[in-house]
Amino acid sequence: MMNNSSSRRILITGGAGFIGSHVVRHFVTQYPNYHIYNLDALTYAGNLENLVDIESESNYTFLKADITSRELLGELFALHNFDSVIHLAAESHVDRSITDASDFIQTNVQGTVNLLDACKNKWKEDNSGKRFYHISTDEVYGSINEGKFNENSPYSPNSPYAASKAGSDHFVRAYHTTYGLPTVISNCSNNYGPYQFPEKFIPLCINNIIHQKALPVYGKGENIRDWLHVEDHVKAIDCIFHTGKIGETYCVGGDNELTNIELVKNLCELMDIMLDRRTGGSEQLITFVADRPGHDFRYAIDSRKLKNELGWKPENSFEKGIQATIQWYLENTMWLEHVTRGSYKDYYQRMYNEKDL
Ligand code: NAD
Ligand code: DAU
Repeated sequence: MMNNSSSRRILITGGAGFIGSHVVRHFVTQYPNYHIYNLDALTYAGNLENLVDIESESNYTFLKADITSRELLGELFALHNFDSVIHLAAESHVDRSITDASDFIQTNVQGTVNLLDACKNKWKEDNSGKRFYHISTDEVYGSINEGKFNENSPYSPNSPYAASKAGSDHFVRAYHTTYGLPTVISNCSNNYGPYQFPEKFIPLCINNIIHQKALPVYGKGENIRDWLHVEDHVKAIDCIFHTGKIGETYCVGGDNELTNIELVKNLCELMDIMLDRRTGGSEQLITFVADRPGHDFRYAIDSRKLKNELGWKPENSFEKGIQATIQWYLENTMWLEHVTRGSYKDYYQRMYNEKDL
């Protein structure tokens, strides 16, 4: 176990994205002795506005860099002497991976291997106190009709995104077995909360309800996801980073399963009240559209190992968490407008042909 009070030099990748920005904020504010380096390529999904409140803290440095560049990573490791990595940078949207898998292979697989090599090369003399923590997804296990996935479930990824994350998990595990790299992995269920890019279902629906636009529900809306508030994921990440056993995997979930249609109706009901609109008005925006190819029916994850061995538990009920999340988007419509400019508009039009909506 690492000593929380000692000084550490932690590289967090993907820190300008949704989950990464919450992780960066948490580590910068909770651990003033640590120096946090946020490495991000600032793709369409990365936004430094997510971190304006902590950007001038003395224990924070932003590094604009792409993990697909091996050379640059080597230089950064030489310059900053990182002793730990929390790796979140990824292409993360399933629908984009179905349109074109190439960026997913480059960033999620090759980029992860580049980071593993940078750690292997830099830490080869002395691995003690070092840690490579890989943030992954429950989607690597595929779909489950009954019961829950756990750390021993076989990998069965169904989307190109999930396949690329599965590939990255395998490389992380292999670098531990082959080279003794001190790695740990966690696989988490669907996150929700502030700063999530509005191509993902919850912020997309919130944004569309605000603008009274159609709410595209794939298929019959019967698919099930397990939703976890992003702050609970961040607490799991802190816990696993500090106390997780080297070489182990931990599953993280919210025990909060909803069908997509239940979820969207819940959002409509809450937002009618919060926006002082006619009851039932937003529900009329629900539009059933063609299903996602290979759409996983249900994700459910068993977090007992993390709870029993490391003492983590989620603290936000979905009822409170979703209300606070909607409130945040209503108070941050400028953020929504900013991130949905430009290339997002083309993307949205391609995905949801205006004729269908
Ligand atoms: P996100 O898309 O919001 O953010 C990804 C970040 O990575 C962005 O800031 C982007 O600029 C950066 N990035 C992308 N390619 C890069 C590259 N080549 N080099 C450097 N930076 C690059 O993603 P998210 O939803 O915050 O997910 C973060 C991580 O957590 C991912 O690894 C994802 O697989 C995993 N995860 C996400 C969820 C979820 O529900 N969102 C659940 C479980 C696991
Ligand atoms: O399970 C963890 C994963 O959760 C993460 O690894 C991914 O990075 C993250 O994007 C998320 O994947 P999903 O595909 O589950 O999330 P998404 O928000 O895209 O979709 C949630 C559900 O809503 C899914 O069943 C598809 C459906 N959906 C999605 C969109 C964008 C719709 O019905 N309509 C939509 O327009």
